[in-house]
Amino acid sequence: MLKKDIIKSFKLLKYYEFINYNLIYNNSAINRYKKDNFELSANKIKELENLKKSIMNLNNCELKKNAKNIVFSDGNPKSKIMLIGEAPGANEDLEGLPFVGRAGMLLDKMLGAINLDRKKVYISNIVNYRPPENRRPTDEEIKKYLPFITKHIEIIQPKILILLGSTAMNALIGSDIVISKMRGKWIEKKFGNCKTSVIITFHPAFLMRQPAQKKMAWIDLKMIRDKKTNLKI
Ligand code: URA
Repeated sequence: MLKKDIIKSFKLLKYYEFINYNLIYNNSAINRYKKDNFELSANKIKELENLKKSIMNLNNCELKKNAKNIVFSDGNPKSKIMLIGEAPGANEDLEGLPFVGRAGMLLDKMLGAINLDRKKVYISNIVNYRPPENRRPTDEEIKKYLPFITKHIEIIQPKILILLGSTAMNALIGSDIVISKMRGKWIEKKFGNCKTSVIITFHPAFLMRQPAQKKMAWIDLKMIRDKKTNLKI
């Protein structure tokens, strides 16, 4: 090797050292099309904020007029498991969070039984404001909020969607079906651009009134646990 080649190699080595060559060298292919986690999360958060704003801008809504707070959601927006209840109650209205009252305590126990908790899932309701006297939301009210909960599902993109009780079931699956026949089955369903596996189970408030039905809810929970394992969630 000539002296000038040795000097050249030496300079090259120094240069590699200077640019931290070992740190940036990587044999794997660059995937230019994969959005990174950060970008995905930032988009999701923005979309959720916009959705919340559009619900807060609703006009002529009796529910909103009588409520103290919007109850939008709780849990992890990146979760692959989403739960949808009926409507906020008094405690939820006060705190602005879904399922924080007595029914929520039972829901937490149900989730705990299959090794889940509210931080690992995402929770919302069919309507986002408390109906006066905790009455069931009317068909008209449900119709008004349906585009919002559908959009909510599209943003979250759950792989498993758990509908709690007949109000959520009738609003999202069909009005001419009964929960006793529909619970405990997987239904493949599309909400906008979100294809998901839906399961219907009893609402925790119903289970508090009818504890004998808890054994059926346990069957549903075990189905959710198995699905979660199969989908590697
Ligand atoms: N019941 C529901 O359906 N949702 C809540 O957030 C609380 C009670």
